[in-house]
Amino acid sequence: MQNSGAAAAPPQQQPQQQQQNQWPSILTSKPIFSTLFTLRDPKPNNKPTLLLYTFLAISLLSITFIFSLSTSSSSSSGPHSGPDPFLFPAHHAHNHRIIYDSNKANPPPPSIAYLISGSRADSARILRLLHATFHPLNQYLLHLDPSASHADRERVALTVQSNPIFKAAQNVHVMGKPDFAYQKGSSPVSLALHAASILIRLNLKWDWFVCLSADAYPLVTQDDLLHIMSFLPKEMNFVNHSSYIGWKESRRLRPIIVDPGLYLAEGTEMFYATQKRDLPSAFRVFTGSSFSILTRSFMEFCILGADNLPRLLLMYFANTPSSLSNYFPSVLCNSRQFNRTVINQNLLYAIYDDRHISDPRPLNSSDFDDMVRSGAAFARKLQPDDPVLDLIDEKLLGRSPGSVVPGGWCLGEPGNSTCLTWGDASILRPGSGSQRLEKAIVKLLSNGTFRSHQCV
Ligand SMILES: *[C@@H]1O[C@H](CO)[C@@H](O)[C@H](O)[C@H]1NC(C)=O
Ligand SMILES: *[C@@H]1O[C@H](CO)[C@@H](O)[C@H](O)[C@H]1NC(C)=O
Ligand SMILES: *[C@@H]1O[C@H](CO)[C@@H](O)[C@H](O)[C@H]1NC(C)=O
Ligand SMILES: *[C@@H]1O[C@H](CO)[C@@H](O)[C@H](O)[C@H]1NC(C)=O
Ligand SMILES: *[C@@H]1O[C@H](CO)[C@@H](O)[C@H](O)[C@H]1NC(C)=O
Repeated sequence: MQNSGAAAAPPQQQPQQQQQNQWPSILTSKPIFSTLFTLRDPKPNNKPTLLLYTFLAISLLSITFIFSLSTSSSSSSGPHSGPDPFLFPAHHAHNHRIIYDSNKANPPPPSIAYLISGSRADSARILRLLHATFHPLNQYLLHLDPSASHADRERVALTVQSNPIFKAAQNVHVMGKPDFAYQKGSSPVSLALHAASILIRLNLKWDWFVCLSADAYPLVTQDDLLHIMSFLPKEMNFVNHSSYIGWKESRRLRPIIVDPGLYLAEGTEMFYATQKRDLPSAFRVFTGSSFSILTRSFMEFCILGADNLPRLLLMYFANTPSSLSNYFPSVLCNSRQFNRTVINQNLLYAIYDDRHISDPRPLNSSDFDDMVRSGAAFARKLQPDDPVLDLIDEKLLGRSPGSVVPGGWCLGEPGNSTCLTWGDASILRPGSGSQRLEKAIVKLLSNGTFRSHQCV
């Protein structure tokens, strides 16, 4: 419970006390963004590297949280240390706004906070996924679990640091201290809550939280996605869920497991108790999918809320296999406050068949047309460097290799460097992907039929 507890619990006292003398001058002297990028690694054994990671440990975050409360009013001031004024003209008094689309009927674009996480040998995929989902208005937290080498983590941080676009937008963060995330266990819930708490503590105004594993990929541009989501109420959670348990009862809910990542420094095989337990009767269990699109208010409810439901279920699911696919659906549907905000569709394209009951089968070029037709926003799972990824880049995202996905904020010549000249980030240029997504969402919400699929 140590890991998952840390995300939900109030700031820990001890490490704070220790380090407070060390950090406050650094943390208060500059806005949080720039400070976190230049922090030194406090671990004595590691050679001090100045470029460094955005996030080091929960204890450190507690401190930054405390200081961000006192400095939040000044955290976006100063044209030299904040995000580039060209990208965010509205945040600065003297702007050079470039307007070529003045459609006033469009609501302001929302923002999505992404956790992009992977494992050993996933650093290239994580970076590709970052480029394919990039938008200056969003927030990104990149995570490589402990099976990846420190060098991999360093390479990801260096690449992020050296990219002029990420530097200008200041919205990509790399988790320096990895969390254990064993997909078949319960530690991924702890990682998701930890990541959301980091993003909340940064006090950035994001609206939705999305966890992407390295084997996922977008099927629409961020302009498409943000455009469609700007028309949706900001309390809609897109979560596959069902109270029909079926085969999952014997494989997912009755076994008692202990995830080694929660208490052992070295990851080992999961521990299964010989006994099985009954299904709970104090609350209803809902099963679902590990991918979901969750609102900020719901994440705050899970992490900061005074209602004890999220913590109670967290403790129950700590000993259940694959709990990430069940935790959020169960919290949502057992909560009176949130049970009417859930849409039973996660906007992810994935195929389960007889041979892939619990994990979707790998997608390839043969699936491309179906993926497009589905109107989904993301797909999973994709093999590293599968040719279908290039097809998606070319046909759906308009992204050239090594570049970020273009959007309305990119003003350069078409080609590799379109996004090296930037304009206002809040101007979206949705394409055909937004029509596909719109059709899918309209179908979901039409006639209020989504109500009859809520929490059943
Ligand atoms: C939400 O919770 C309330 C109170 O428990 C209940 O009356 C209502 O039917 C629930 N709604 C759904 C969609 O489950
Ligand atoms: C999510 O639910 C929708 C319908 O409710 C279904 O079509 C889709 O296959 C499900 N996706 C996953 C990943 O389970
Ligand atoms: C894609 O995968 C399916 C099922 O795994 C397979 O039948 C098909 O031949 C594959 N197509 C390509 C182009 O590799
Ligand atoms: C894109 O970049 C590659 C290598 O950097 C270069 O060879 C190619 O000509 C560029 N393409 C365009 C359209 O600028
Ligand atoms: C919505 O309602 C109309 C008329 O009541 C019906 O023709 C249509 O098929 C319904 N659409 C869906 C998606 O249920």
